This record gives sequence, C-alpha cells and structure tokens, in this order.
Amino acid sequence: MTSNSTISEIGLGTMPVLIGEGDQILLIDQTKLPESVEYFNATAFDDMLIAIKNLVVRGAPSIGVAAAFSLAWEAVLLASKITDEKTFLAALAVKGWELKATRPTAVNLAWSVDLIIDRATRGFHEKKTTVEVALYLKEEAYKVMEHHIAVNKTLSDLGAELFKNEARVLTHCNAGSLATCGWGTALGVIRSAHIKGLKPEVFVDETRPRHQGAKLTMWELKEDQIPATLVCDNMAGHLMATGKVDLVITGADRIAVNGDTANKIGTYNLAVLAHYHNIPFYIAAPLSTVDGALASGDLIPIEHRNESEVTMINDASITVGGARAYNPAFDVTPAKLITAIITEAGILKPDYTRSITEALKGALK
Ligand code: MRU
Repeated sequence: MTSNSTISEIGLGTMPVLIGEGDQILLIDQTKLPESVEYFNATAFDDMLIAIKNLVVRGAPSIGVAAAFSLAWEAVLLASKITDEKTFLAALAVKGWELKATRPTAVNLAWSVDLIIDRATRGFHEKKTTVEVALYLKEEAYKVMEHHIAVNKTLSDLGAELFKNEARVLTHCNAGSLATCGWGTALGVIRSAHIKGLKPEVFVDETRPRHQGAKLTMWELKEDQIPATLVCDNMAGHLMATGKVDLVITGADRIAVNGDTANKIGTYNLAVLAHYHNIPFYIAAPLSTVDGALASGDLIPIEHRNESEVTMINDASITVGGARAYNPAFDVTPAKLITAIITEAGILKPDYTRSITEALKGALK
C-alpha cells in the first residue's frame, strides 16, 4: 500500500479506523460512537496528542499506529527545515517523547515510536537525505498498520480454535477493530469464531468509567450481527456462578515477560472470578504488546485519569458535589490467573517466561 491510498480494505466492514491520505491523518472519533460516525483530523501534531489523551483514538495497537503516523508526518515538516542528520534525529526524538508521554501504560505506543526512530536511523545509514528519510518513514508507518492488521487476523484465527460450538464468552473493554486498526484481538478471536460458524454468544462488560464495552464493543458486535448481551461490570460473578460463561477473553495493554498483563481496569476482577469458577481466562494480544524489558507486572506504569470520569457520566454528575474519586485506568492480572496468551506466534502457555521469550525471537523489531 502506498502513502497515497486510503486504508479501506480492512477494518470494520468498509470503515477505516485510521486514514493517512495525502497530507492528512484522520481518525475515527471513538468518543462520538455509537451515536455518530465522525472523523477527527489529527494531522497537526498537537491535535494528535489531544486525540490520544482524550481517547479519540484508543486501544493499545491503535494508539501505537496513530503515533507512528503522527511521527512520520511530523518528520516531513522537520525535513522541510532541517538538512542535518543529528539535528533531525534529535528533533524527532523530542516529538517521540511527547507522544510517549500521552498515555503511559500501553507499550505499543513506545514500541511504534521506537520503531519509527529506528527506521530514521536506518535511512541515514543508507545515505538518505532528511526529505528522503521522512518519505521513507511514511511508508514505514503504513507498514506498521498493515503489520498489526495481519497479525490480528493471524492470532484471531488461532484463538478461534479454543472455542467450542456456541461458546458463551465474556469480554471487557473494547479489543476490536477500533482498538487495533482492524479486525481486533480479543474481539477479533470472537469475530473469527463467528466467521467459522461456531456461533459464539458474547457477554459484554459495560466497562466503567468510559464505557468502551457498552459504546464500542456493542457497536462492533451489532455491525457484525454477532449475538451480544450487555452487562454491568459487577454482574460477572453472578454470570459465572450461574453457569452462563464458558470462557473469558480480553486484550492487553502491556505484557511483562513473566506473563503478568495490564489491561483495562476490571480485567483483574474477571481473572480472579474465572479462576474461582474454574473458567478459562485468555488474553489475546500481538507481540508488540509484550514489553521485553519488564520482568514482571509490578513494574508496569498505571495511568491515572481525571476524577470526573468517575463522578460524571455524559457530562452529568452522578454523585454528591465535591466528591473525590479514584481512577486508575488499568490493572495488572498476575500470570498465574491466565490460562493462555493468544499471539500471532501461537497460543502461549505457562511457563510464560519461557514461552514469551521464545515467541519474541521471531517478532518484528
Ligand atoms: O483506555 P483504553 O480504552 O485505551 O484501554 C484499552 C484497553 O484496555 C484495551 O482492552 C486494550 O488496549 C487492548 S485493545 C487491543
């Protein structure tokens, strides 16, 4: 795919999650769904920073791909002013840090930024000018997106093998097309199982405080006509205790080498409940979500977001005036509660330090 073409082939039906067309970067605005489908113009670097911080684009892989595009587009601007390699790389690194600082937990963001900066260095090794490097980075950004979409499809097809016919599956947050630039990871596995004719039925956690389950996952499932039932987050225990859940599957924002996994707040609750009820608990994620530098999950930085996300819903207060709120956006599920981690390199089982280390050997760098 060239930097002039529209990314419309894969994604949610014909709906691209991210469009890098000509001079523009457009993002499907996830804060507007499901009421309306609108695109946010994130061409200007500062607008992309806002888009990532405010969850216009969200979900670990989508954030990473958006950051790769933004950095590549910024490189074009830098190249119009800078001809010297060192100055160019230093300026690009500053922009990379600004992107990385927007959301600390999802490692895909850092992964993508580091990859683009690595490619810039490679470009200079090949004696390219700053203008040539910038154009090369645009092509590389497209490759990052294509890589993710292909990998999502591969891991989803592998994960679908874990589904029996008419499996009742509980998922949390949104790990679908929107979160991953196309197809999905946890939701991708469900999508693949559906396409294989396995007739999965999905329970969707609403996912307080931002309601990614109610707004985004329910929207994607409706689009694909996959049977789905919305539940409040505090209903999972009852669902499991009454025998209504065969398996739980979620995405991930960062996986440590020992398998400990950060994902949307509330994922840990599900893993504990699933363990108690002897129900398999799966994580589905690309290898770009593995942080090869982190030995265990206690080192994963947890993003804390504004209290108003807890005290308000749709701009209306749901509590007493002046109420304080606690709002960690992610939690960490210990590896011992995870039945398997579904990746493009296969379905990884404990001992995760061994299986993850082995899988990383073939990962894109
Ligand atoms: O705060 P968000 O909406 O970006 O959090 C997203 C999640 O926690 C997803 O479950 C995770 O990124 C996996 S998506 C493939």
